[in-house]
Amino acid sequence: MVMYAPQEVRADGLPDRVTIYEVGARDGLQNEKQVVPTEVKAQFVERLVAAGLRTVETTSFVHPAWVPQLADAEELIDRLERAPGVRYPVLVPNLKGLRRALDRGVRDVAVFASVTETFSRRNLNRSVAEALEMIAPVVDGARSAGAGVRVYVSMAFGDPWEGEVPRERVVDVAGRLMALGCTEMSLSDTIGTGTPGHVTALVADLVDSGIPLERIGVHFHDTYGQALANVLAALQAGVTTVDSSAGGLGGCNFAESATGNLATEDLVWQLHGLGIETGVDLDALVRTSVWMAGQLGRPSVSRTVQALAGTAGRQRGAA
Ligand code: HMG
Ligand code: MG
Repeated sequence: MVMYAPQEVRADGLPDRVTIYEVGARDGLQNEKQVVPTEVKAQFVERLVAAGLRTVETTSFVHPAWVPQLADAEELIDRLERAPGVRYPVLVPNLKGLRRALDRGVRDVAVFASVTETFSRRNLNRSVAEALEMIAPVVDGARSAGAGVRVYVSMAFGDPWEGEVPRERVVDVAGRLMALGCTEMSLSDTIGTGTPGHVTALVADLVDSGIPLERIGVHFHDTYGQALANVLAALQAGVTTVDSSAGGLGGCNFAESATGNLATEDLVWQLHGLGIETGVDLDALVRTSVWMAGQLGRPSVSRTVQALAGTAGRQRGAA
């Protein structure tokens, strides 16, 4: 007997609805060595939207030599069939990236910064202070163009080179980034070392520092199997935006051990079990991830995809 959906049982103190910020097409694919054709990327994004996701980060306008997989950002944006009411944010590191994105008509961007010096240098070729200087005019330019600006705050729970990351440092860097005019932040556990108490404490510290709860999203990696527990802690703290990647695709090429984005299907299973609305059709999403796994030539790492796609007929019906 296979259950295709969890039994719904509500728990106290949780939101009625959660916004899933889907990162599979950007964070998921940026790590793939073999270049995925633009047409496949476009179909991936369109299928994610058809499965009910309403915020789908699409690509990056970073330096193509740094992330060759996403060198087709312009082409992808141009050929994408956009659905009304859907946000298609893109990642931009600097003014050059912002100009490229705005030129394609993009009006929703995400910048990224690290709490730690080592990752800042490896990911942006800048110290933390220099990265903030680089980001400031990007936020200004994007806001003047009417774009929303999310900021990823990376290495917020630990760093593979520097070890423990004090919460005060996270609050300090996040505060400076939000003061630039970012409209939301994504508290990112880049290497997946965070645990639920850490999440509770850090979200509370950020809120105490004056960052409104509704502007805080969370980005967990499942490297140590903590991602879903961390999501629950974040929801209990009042967070209502959660990042995840269809099929659990991806990681980050610039951080050791940054594998395993939280899989969207695993997240949806938990949220639907808790009676929390997501707008996502889990069956359509699983079929999308099975299709994408076929394109990449290896099975999805999502436990939910494995459980559902392995059942009779599902794999065959997943074209
Ligand atoms: P740099 O080498 O310092 O760049 O790299 P620069 O400003 O000195 O410029 C050098 C050349 O690059 C110039 O060209 C620029 O025009 C060009 P030249 O004059 O020599 O011919 N250039 C660009 N070309 C195209 N698009 C651009 C661009 N910018 C400069 N946007 C830079 C600095 C920021 C560009 C580089 O470090 C970079 O692209 N980094 C991106 C790394 C990346 O994508 N990392 C993955 C995303 S972060 C992540 O995954 C974590 C996250 O998911 C959350 C989490 O879990 O933590 C967000
Ligand atoms: Mg990630």
